[in-house]
Amino acid sequence: MDVIQAIKERRSVNFFETGQEIPDEKLKQLLELSNLAPSSFNLQPWEVVLVRDPSKKKILRKCALNQAKVEDASVVLIILANPKAVEQNLSRVMNSWEELGYMKPEMRQTYTDMIRNLYGSEESVQRKLFAAKNAALFAMNLMTAAKGLGLDTHPMDGFDEECVKREFHIPQEMIIPMLIAVGHVRSGTTLLPRALRRDLKEFMKLESYEKPS
Ligand SMILES: Cc1cc2nc3c(=O)[nH]c(=O)nc-3n(C[C@H](O)[C@H](O)[C@H](O)COP(=O)(O)O)c2cc1C
Repeated sequence: MDVIQAIKERRSVNFFETGQEIPDEKLKQLLELSNLAPSSFNLQPWEVVLVRDPSKKKILRKCALNQAKVEDASVVLIILANPKAVEQNLSRVMNSWEELGYMKPEMRQTYTDMIRNLYGSEESVQRKLFAAKNAALFAMNLMTAAKGLGLDTHPMDGFDEECVKREFHIPQEMIIPMLIAVGHVRSGTTLLPRALRRDLKEFMKLESYEKPS
């Protein structure tokens, strides 16, 4: 399936075929494709918890407004955004830049200062935004890649973040931008047509917003 078709055919699927496993190899492929998402300074501030065990899915469903798809889907991914990825990944990322010729060694300190300045302290709002926006790109890549691999998905932010953190032992500093249910649409399900998408002219501004008069 080409990427345009995958984008057009991806839908948030409410009804999943139950009792269907996704082979480990396919899940691995899905996560490796998702991991090719771009990120700020290539810092990749995402992590993912794979929830497949039926008893764990039951718990997750309780944290997620009792949404049945959490229990029905083959696997539910808890997408995590890690504000500490700057400290955790910067050095490795810069090593690879040096090795591959993206950056001269003498620029290392300049980049380090720039990145720390841009994203603030570990607890800052900039840091949370940095983590959440990049993890969302990972998530979108995942949903498109899933479609290309013949899988269906459903993103969710209808959940209690504290409940998910508590039940799945997720460190407090992490942000959970969304859960994504992954599986196969239940056979016999007819999806409603795609709902409203705004016309291009509603959200596209040419060159700038109109100057206020
Ligand atoms: C971040 C995010 C969170 C969402 N949370 C929920 C949710 O908790 N429950 C739900 O039924 N749908 C949820 N949705 C699905 C949207 O309602 C859906 O994407 C939208 O209606 C467009 O439909 P489509 O994905 O089929 O194009 C969420 C979507 C996104 C992107």
